[in-house]
Amino acid sequence: MDPKDVDAVILVGGKGTRLRPLTVSKPKPMLPTAGLPFLTHLLSRIAAAGIEHVVLGTSFQAEVFSDTFGDGSELGLEIDYVYEPEPLGTGGGIANVAPKLRHDTAVVFNGDVLSGADLGQLLAFHDERDAELTLHLVRVADPRAFGSVPTDADGRVTAFLEKTQDPPTDQINAGCYVFQRELIEAIPRGRALSVEREIFPRLLADGVRVCGYVDASYWRDMGTPEDFVRGSADLVRGIAPSPALHGHRGESLVHDGASVAPGALLYGGTVVGRGAEIGPGVRLDGAVIFDGAKVDAGSVIERSIIGYGAQIGPRALIRDGVIGDGADIGARCELLRGARVWPGVVLPDCGIRYSSDV
Ligand code: GDD
Ligand code: MG
Repeated sequence: MDPKDVDAVILVGGKGTRLRPLTVSKPKPMLPTAGLPFLTHLLSRIAAAGIEHVVLGTSFQAEVFSDTFGDGSELGLEIDYVYEPEPLGTGGGIANVAPKLRHDTAVVFNGDVLSGADLGQLLAFHDERDAELTLHLVRVADPRAFGSVPTDADGRVTAFLEKTQDPPTDQINAGCYVFQRELIEAIPRGRALSVEREIFPRLLADGVRVCGYVDASYWRDMGTPEDFVRGSADLVRGIAPSPALHGHRGESLVHDGASVAPGALLYGGTVVGRGAEIGPGVRLDGAVIFDGAKVDAGSVIERSIIGYGAQIGPRALIRDGVIGDGADIGARCELLRGARVWPGVVLPDCGIRYSSDV
């Protein structure tokens, strides 16, 4: 199957609640990862596979996508946008793009997945199997947060169980589907529907030929702070593939206009954004520092995200935390284990500690 004869559809209308407060100011697929909006990595992968036409299904903060990508020509793509004033869910979002499709086959992507799966092979598999729908599947250690998808000996999907406590298999929905267009056209339009909870189970019950393409390439859903930090670090270190990143990949990535004082230590896939300032003696291990943030002398930041223009006072410790845009964290504060600080919040010096000495 020639990728030129396939549409790509990307669902980007979710609110990104699990990544709050970062998603207060930007939709999840637009958060910076290794210096680029996350979606750029996915769009580049689509372009590198030879697909030319992309439809973005938007809702939450829709204008950010068109403002950034326009007609797509900079990425060698033609991008169309379809807007849901009220979010229609993943199924409603797919149904809604039907009028924009140009071809008989469409690859639909969740907009928050970092994956190395070979799209050409996925399309070839779909074709060879004569499938009406092919789901990309991967194996994960804990399948409970995903759609669990058992298959039979022939690779036919036998069930789809979204986020169950007792999944029958560790094989999960990787958030990428090859649809024959008629199936998309048959989804009722204009009302909210979940593709995972309603459409897939219904298609299986109707006997539609649904196949599972299983591979072992890099895969990560970027939807939680922990995964966002890991995925970003993996991009920086070259563990996660992205055709949008060229040249040197190493332990850290420091962008133009950032300043890093001598003696600061950056490793673990750390990213320092444009215009950010890192003071002397600072240690950044797997930190994601957005543009314009400032980290003062002697602070330690591990596996955490520091929002746009946030300020971290001297000798603070932030581990597995998220600091919102423009927040101001006082000297020697300690923020650990999933702490989330909302944008603009000011914490005084020693304002929060996990130990009794100050
Ligand atoms: N257009 C539109 N409209 N897009 C939406 C809407 C909507 O109402 N709701 C969610 N989306 C988009 C999100 O922006 C995201 O890119 C994608 O749909 C998936 O939504 P998530 O909220 O990230 O879902 P999830 O991670 O909990 O679960 C999904 O992905 C897993 C793999 O990463 C499911 O598809 C699972 O079955 C799957 O295992
Ligand atoms: Mg997700």
